Amino acid sequence: MLGTFKRWLSGPTATQPTDADPLGQLAGAASRQREWRTETPLVAWTRYRNGQPADTFSIGNSFEGLFVSGRSGSGKTSTTGRMAFSAAAKAGYGILCTTTKPTDADEVRAWATQMGRAADLVLVTPERGEFNFLSYQATQGSDTRQLVELLMTLAQAASRNGRAEADDIWAKAMREWLLNALDTLRLAGKPLTMEALAIFAKHAPLSRSAAQGAEWQSRSPLAALLREAVARATRGELTDSQEKDLEVCSHYWLEELPSMADRTRSSIEMTTNATLAPFARGWMRDRFCGGSELTPDLLGDGKIVVLDYNVKEHQESGQLAQLAWKLVVQRWAERRMKAAVQVGLQPEQVRPLMLFSDECQFFLTREDVQFQTTARGSRTAAVYLTQNLPNVIKELGDPHQAHSLLGNLATKIFHCNDEKSTNEWAAQTIGQSLQQRRSFSSSGTAQWSAGASEQRDYDVPPNAFLSLRTGGHENALLCEAVVFRSGARWSNGQHFLTATLPQT
Ligand SMILES: Nc1ncnc2c1ncn2[C@@H]1O[C@H](COP(=O)(O)OP(=O)(O)OP(=O)(O)O)[C@@H](O)[C@H]1O
Ligand SMILES: [Mg+2]
Repeated sequence: MLGTFKRWLSGPTATQPTDADPLGQLAGAASRQREWRTETPLVAWTRYRNGQPADTFSIGNSFEGLFVSGRSGSGKTSTTGRMAFSAAAKAGYGILCTTTKPTDADEVRAWATQMGRAADLVLVTPERGEFNFLSYQATQGSDTRQLVELLMTLAQAASRNGRAEADDIWAKAMREWLLNALDTLRLAGKPLTMEALAIFAKHAPLSRSAAQGAEWQSRSPLAALLREAVARATRGELTDSQEKDLEVCSHYWLEELPSMADRTRSSIEMTTNATLAPFARGWMRDRFCGGSELTPDLLGDGKIVVLDYNVKEHQESGQLAQLAWKLVVQRWAERRMKAAVQVGLQPEQVRPLMLFSDECQFFLTREDVQFQTTARGSRTAAVYLTQNLPNVIKELGDPHQAHSLLGNLATKIFHCNDEKSTNEWAAQTIGQSLQQRRSFSSSGTAQWSAGASEQRDYDVPPNAFLSLRTGGHENALLCEAVVFRSGARWSNGQHFLTATLPQT
């Protein structure tokens, strides 16, 4: 095939092969002599009368995840969210913080400043902070298939309202497309960027005859890429195995894709466009398709990286940009533990990481479900806040996935809520026990008898969440929330706790 391909593609290529990535090194998470023991408490939900912490949230608990729900205005951000973030900031965690509203970054900045961490704030905005995540990931040892999975997750997030993600045929075809696009770029010696990938979505030949035609061969940037790869092969710059890959790629773009069923092809192109096109223009191209001035390694140095591409202002682009950061950081978090072990560090010497996501529904993917199962091992604390359960189910597209994720966020804090299914789920999660019921009955005459019966009932019934205090001046800046962690016994002797949390 390579022979045929060489024959009909002609003309020299001008570009030099490059593999740009200025920052590829793993920053030593524990290069400073500090320790973060799992039993160290971070937050006290309640205190004893003498002011000592009674019920705490430790560093170890943070690695098991925190999920916070409550209706809008119930006090999630101003109490639980602020407390978890501030404690982690004070303890020296590296923190990756997503944003939804234009005011979020300022709010987080104020919290960090209050904790003495202003100097560690890194504000990433559409104007500042280059991060070619694709190229960065490749320099961190990810092979093409691992890059494909990263892009698939982004693509699934980009198209989650448009298609059933469980469509296996589509997913398989999409993976194939991405694999060939990434391999072709590598074989042509080009840097891996989202902008470069967009070329394949726009310029692949529409039919086999078009692929043979002079028009496509002379004008299409994809044809130029293939020519460049062939030229490298001719100059002996590709290994035997790479030459075989080039045959596979050529066959894919020139034969397989043009012969694909229209529906499958247009579906792939729509999805790739929805994912790649935003990265190929405007500020997204400027920030994500060049070098990597900022990388997740910052978090290993204890920086607080605030992704100020807030969703309200930047919409889908802002969401995709933050997701790309989050996905790469999750991979980094797992990789750094291996590196730490290799240099002989103890786990508690590895700086903890917090993924702080208010309005987390915008930034959830199915990878979170997987990631959360091993988050403890990567010393990563997921702190996810959202109004209700349906938000999580809608974004993950599947109740089972949602419940699996929530099951792996061990500490759950329920604020005031009037969303029925969330309150029922909260009540079920906390559980049932035998409750005494008093009853009074009349025999019909003037005789009344009193009795008590026992029956199983919710420890915290669904309607209890309706009346929790929501802060504000009318509540003396105090919020109430029910704290639950399976297996925990709290200072009240119960397995759940109603905490009163201050907004100041
Ligand atoms: N320091 C404060 N002083 C007075 N009121 C406050 C203070 N902080 C928050 N509030 C008020 O308390 C209520 C709870 O606010 P908060 O933003 O924490 O809610 P939330 O649960 O995060 O809501 P949402 O889901 O909309 O983000 C709001 O009415 C808010 O205006
Ligand atoms: Mg909030």
